[in-house]
Amino acid sequence: MKKPLIAPSILSADFARLGEDTAKVLAAGGDVVHFDVMDNHYVPNLTMGPMVLKALRDYGITAPIDVHLMVKPVDRLIPDFAKAGASFITFHPEASEHIDRTLQLIKEHGCKAGLVFNPATPLSYLDYVMDKLDIILLMSVNPGFGGQSFIPSTLDKLRVARKRIDQSGYDIRLEVDGGVKVENIAEIAAAGADMFVAGSAIFGQPDYQQVIEQMRTELEK
Ligand code: DX5
Ligand code: ZN
Repeated sequence: MKKPLIAPSILSADFARLGEDTAKVLAAGGDVVHFDVMDNHYVPNLTMGPMVLKALRDYGITAPIDVHLMVKPVDRLIPDFAKAGASFITFHPEASEHIDRTLQLIKEHGCKAGLVFNPATPLSYLDYVMDKLDIILLMSVNPGFGGQSFIPSTLDKLRVARKRIDQSGYDIRLEVDGGVKVENIAEIAAAGADMFVAGSAIFGQPDYQQVIEQMRTELEK
């Protein structure tokens, strides 16, 4: 198993002080910045675009930035996010007309690529693209908002996805997003995840470092 990565979701950060709050969560031990892009079309909420990502890079954020696209259409935003400084770009297969083409586009722009599965989206979208994936992201809530509760059926789905990754022999991260907190992270890791998005669990507490350390302690159990 790879070293677990903790990816604080800045959806729950202080938007009025985004650079500062992002730097703070990284200094507190976050590995990767999870950057949620919502378009009020694919999901019923509106968040940030490539300009905000570029502003974070200009502010001095050097950690990997994991762009989670909850947008439809997908393709035309990819060059802009890559140019702005994205490291990973993931998208929902239902939102793309041509999944294979979108994955290729992400790679051509020098980013790592991944597919995101909503709680009820079948893993069969993986069938012909495993060789093009760096990340498989399983949503453990319905996308659109932070602060929702983890949907328990995700655990079985994680086990299935873990098996598929191991059997494929490819180097693919298994990421989980939604309702991850200190109390459930060990169980989620045991089901096979190795990259953990957490928004409200971290930003909802005054001491980010303490929460991240507690998560790491749970992961070492
Ligand atoms: C939800 C977003 C998540 C969200 C998670 O659509 O994709 O990344 O920020 O927030 P928490 O950890 O609060 O469930
Ligand atoms: Zn997300």
